[in-house]
Amino acid sequence: MRKNAALLGATGAMGQRFVKMLEKHPFFDLRLLIASEQRKGKKYGKEVRWLLGSDVPEYVKDMEIHDFKLTNFEREGIDIVFSALPADIAREYEGKLREHGYTVFSNSSAYRMERDVPILIPEINAEHIELVKLQKERYGGYIVTNSNCSTSGLALALAPLRNYGIERVFVTTYQAVSGAGYPGVASLDICGNIVPYIKREEEKMRRETRKILGKLEKDEVKDYPVDIIASCARVPVRDGHLEAVVLKFRKDVEVEEIKRKMESMKGLEGLPTAPAKPVIVRDEEDRPQPILDAYAGEGRARGMSVVTGRFAKFGEYIRFYLIVHNTIRGGAGASILNAEYALSNGYL
Ligand SMILES: NC(=O)c1ccc[n+]([C@@H]2O[C@H](COP(=O)([O-])OP(=O)(O)OC[C@H]3O[C@@H](n4cnc5c(N)ncnc54)[C@H](OP(=O)(O)O)[C@@H]3O)[C@@H](O)[C@H]2O)c1
Repeated sequence: MRKNAALLGATGAMGQRFVKMLEKHPFFDLRLLIASEQRKGKKYGKEVRWLLGSDVPEYVKDMEIHDFKLTNFEREGIDIVFSALPADIAREYEGKLREHGYTVFSNSSAYRMERDVPILIPEINAEHIELVKLQKERYGGYIVTNSNCSTSGLALALAPLRNYGIERVFVTTYQAVSGAGYPGVASLDICGNIVPYIKREEEKMRRETRKILGKLEKDEVKDYPVDIIASCARVPVRDGHLEAVVLKFRKDVEVEEIKRKMESMKGLEGLPTAPAKPVIVRDEEDRPQPILDAYAGEGRARGMSVVTGRFAKFGEYIRFYLIVHNTIRGGAGASILNAEYALSNGYL
């Protein structure tokens, strides 16, 4: 049952989160670390600028960093590949791996909107994984993506409300700097400041959320018909994206009903990175907050729950806030959960 895993972009902000979350993983053994050519041959523990506190995990300290060559994958007997590469490079490398029969779980936006590629969040659209069968026929291997970090929080909070008919969503984000990778945003731009622009983020939130919440019909996903107006800003917070969400439904819905729906969403059983509660509702007047709520969830699933709060109704609009940990539920954790789901359901 155990699978040998490779990690593309192992030295970046997201790559490090993968390294941490794959330590002692019950299904996956991390065997191959890939970064840019200049790091080739260097030891991970010496080379990486470790961002996640404490120390580089012992199990990867002495592993050598490789550049991207298919022979490295063959030599290590790689079964699955996790990708934390910038989109332009991901487009080339992930495509090449797929054509050589590999299975890729990607964080990058490169393939997310392709018709035969799922943006998988197994708690809400598990059936979308069927799309990989089309890819297998076409290319030999397949790519499963997880969504953009801010989208993952929004999609999880909206999913239990789909049946009420969500007509329009206004979402304003307050996004952490780790979302921009390392070194990311220049300190002079972000210290004591807010930058009301994140390249392509607003469009990603709109397109990806509609696809994630959509229905699989025959060979493609039919978008969920909701209008999403996103306003995205970078704020001087290290981890955790806060989002203020205003919803308009096609019929009248009460706040208490919405909270009940979110709270009753079930976690997936038997998957190590699946939180027992995908959405946690808080009633305090000043939650959720990045420092207090970004790491909600237990054990391996720490940081995998989205936390909502501050519900209010204003006429026909409902408002709430949410927090999503951008490199865990919005990144590495999402990919790992997708791989666990694929393995446990016979797709690997
Ligand atoms: N950070 C987040 O919260 C977040 C959330 C969701 C999705 N994502 C996505 O995840 C991906 C990675 O983001 P990040 O924040 O981790 O970025 P990052 O910190 O800039 O890391 C990029 C990684 O890619 C490697 N890389 C760059 N060029 C390469 C090449 N030619 N060949 C092999 N490796 C190469 C880098 O290696 P070197 O160190 O050697 O340069 C580094 O390991 C992006 O697509 C991003 O959009 C990020």
